[in-house]
Amino acid sequence: MIPIAEPLLAWYTRHGRHDLPWRQTRDPYPLWLAEIMLQQTRVESVKPYYTRFLQTLPAWRALAAAPQDQVLALWSGLGYYTRARNAQRAAQVVMASFAGHFPDTLEKAVTLPGVGRSTAAAVLASAYGQRQAILDANARRVLIRSHAIDADPKATATQQWLWTLASALTPEDAHGYNQAIQDLGAMICTPRQPRCPDCPLASRCKAHAQGRSHALPVTAHK
Ligand code: ADE
Repeated sequence: MIPIAEPLLAWYTRHGRHDLPWRQTRDPYPLWLAEIMLQQTRVESVKPYYTRFLQTLPAWRALAAAPQDQVLALWSGLGYYTRARNAQRAAQVVMASFAGHFPDTLEKAVTLPGVGRSTAAAVLASAYGQRQAILDANARRVLIRSHAIDADPKATATQQWLWTLASALTPEDAHGYNQAIQDLGAMICTPRQPRCPDCPLASRCKAHAQGRSHALPVTAHK
C-alpha cells in the first residue's frame, strides 16, 4: 500500500476546489443531494441545478411532500431521471423511518433508494465526520494508477481489493481526503492525458514509474 493521504491533503489545501457550493456545508441534506447529482453529471453542469433545487426544496420534508412533477421539473436537463424519483423516495424514507435525519451508519444509509456504498460514505464522512472511504470513478482511477493495478476494475475480486485499499488509505480526516481524491481525479489524474508533472503523487505512483499512466485503468475485453 502506497501512503498517499499526506501529499494529497497538502496538495488539496493549495489547489483544491474549495469554493464548490456543497463544500460550504456539513448539513447532510445538501451533501446528499450534491452526491446524487454528481453521480452521473459533471461538476459545472450540476452547480446551477443544485442551487435551484435547494432554493425550491430546502429540506427533506419539502422534498418528501413535493409533487413529483415539481421534482422532475427541477431535475429537467440533468438527465438520468431515475435519480430524481429515487431522491424523492429517499427523502420520504428519511422522514418516515429515520425521523427526518440522514441515517448515521453505512448499513442504514445504503437502504435509501439511489444511495450506494460510495455515496453513503461520502455523506457520512462530510456530514458526521466519520472515517468512511469513498470509491467513485475518480477515487478508483487514482488508486488503480498509484498502485498500478492491472486487474479488471469491474471484476468482483478487484472491487473488493479496491475497497480494502480505499479503507486502509483513508485517514481520520476522511472528509478532507475524500474531497482531495475527487479533485485530484478531476483535475490532474484525468481519464485521458493525466497531468503527471503536476501531480503530488507522481514520485510514488507505480503507473507513472512504469510509464503506464495512460494505459490504466485497463478496459476489459469482452
Ligand atoms: N463527485 C462526486 N462527489 C463529489 C464532490 N463531493 N466534489 C466534487 N466532485 C464530486
